[in-house]
Amino acid sequence: MLSKIKKLIKEAEEYVTEAADEVEEFRLKYMAKKGGEVTELFKEFKNVAAEEKKEFGQALNTLKNVVQDKVIFLKQQISAKDSPQENLDLSLPGNSEMQGSRHPISSVRNEISEIFTRLGFTISEGPEIEDDRHVFSALNFPPEHPARDMQDTFFIEKNPDILLRTHTSSVQVRVMDNQKPPIRTISPGRVFRNEAISARAHCIFHQIEGLYIDENVSFADLKQTLLYFAKEFFGDKTEIRLRPSYFPFTEPSAEVDVSCSLCDGKGCNVCKYTGWLEILGCGMVDTNVLESNGIDSEKYTGFAFGMGLERIAMIKYGIKDLRLFFENDLRFLKQFQ
Ligand code: PHE
Repeated sequence: MLSKIKKLIKEAEEYVTEAADEVEEFRLKYMAKKGGEVTELFKEFKNVAAEEKKEFGQALNTLKNVVQDKVIFLKQQISAKDSPQENLDLSLPGNSEMQGSRHPISSVRNEISEIFTRLGFTISEGPEIEDDRHVFSALNFPPEHPARDMQDTFFIEKNPDILLRTHTSSVQVRVMDNQKPPIRTISPGRVFRNEAISARAHCIFHQIEGLYIDENVSFADLKQTLLYFAKEFFGDKTEIRLRPSYFPFTEPSAEVDVSCSLCDGKGCNVCKYTGWLEILGCGMVDTNVLESNGIDSEKYTGFAFGMGLERIAMIKYGIKDLRLFFENDLRFLKQFQ
C-alpha cells in the first residue's frame, strides 16, 4: 500500500498538461469525493496496522499536498498563457483616473459668497446645534408665537432649548453679539427642518443669509444689493420683483422673485408660465431684533435676506428634483465637472 502511494506521488509530481479540462480531470482522478485515489486511500486508513499508521498517514498527506499544489500550479500556468505579457500593446492609452468635481451646492455657495464678498460682505459661520435664543427669541419670535411653526424644528433630546438651527440667521445673532455696526456679513451653512422629503423639500438643506447694519441703511439699498446679486448670478438681463411678505425678524418684509432665466420671462413650465421664480426672503431688520441684540435702533438700521441654495441651484441648472443633491449618484454629480 505504501509503495502504491509513493508511485502516485511520483506520477502526480511528473504530470504536465496545458489544457484546462485535463487539469480538472487530473484533480478528479485523485480528489473526487467518490473513487478519487486520495479519498479511497483515506478510507483504507482504518485497516492499516497500528505500527504502520504513522508512515502511511504522512505519505498520504504528502500525496494530497502534491496534488493540490500541482492543480494550483497548472491553473496559474494556463491563465498566464491566456494573457501573455509579451502581447502587451504599450502604445494603448492608459486607463484614465476618475476625476472628482465640486458638488453643485458647493459651487453655488462659492459663487454667491464671491459676489457678496466683492460688495464688502464678510463670511461668518456658526454651530448647527443651537439654543432657542440664537434661532428664535433674539430674532423676535416670542415663546409660543405661531411664527415658530413656519420652521418646523428638530429638538435635541427632550430639551426644548437645544435644537438644530432652522436657518442661518442664528449666525447673524452671534455676529451681533460680538460686533458693533457697521456689520456686513453673509452666513452660508446647513440647516434642518422637520419636513417630509419630496422633490421640493428636504429635512436638511443649505442657506446663505445676509445682514447689513449701519447708519442710514434703507430699503433702496436692500433692493439694489439684491438686483446686483441677481444680475451677477443669473445674468445681466435678469430683473427682480419684490412682493410683500411676513417674517418675525424683518419689517417690512418681502419675497423676491427673479425673471425666469430659462424663458427670459416669457413663461415656461419651470416658472409655471408666470415668468418669475421665487428665490429669497428679505426685509428691514425689525427694531426689536436690533434692540434685543444691543444695537441702538435710533441710530442704526439694517436689512437682511436669506435664500435656500438647493432652490437657487435648481433654478440655475434646471434641476427638477431636490433629492438629487443628497443621493451622491455619480451620474448626476459628473454633469458638474
Ligand atoms: N431666515 C428666513 C428663512 O429661513 C429667511 C430670511 C432671512 C427672511 C432674512 C428675511 C430676512 O426662511
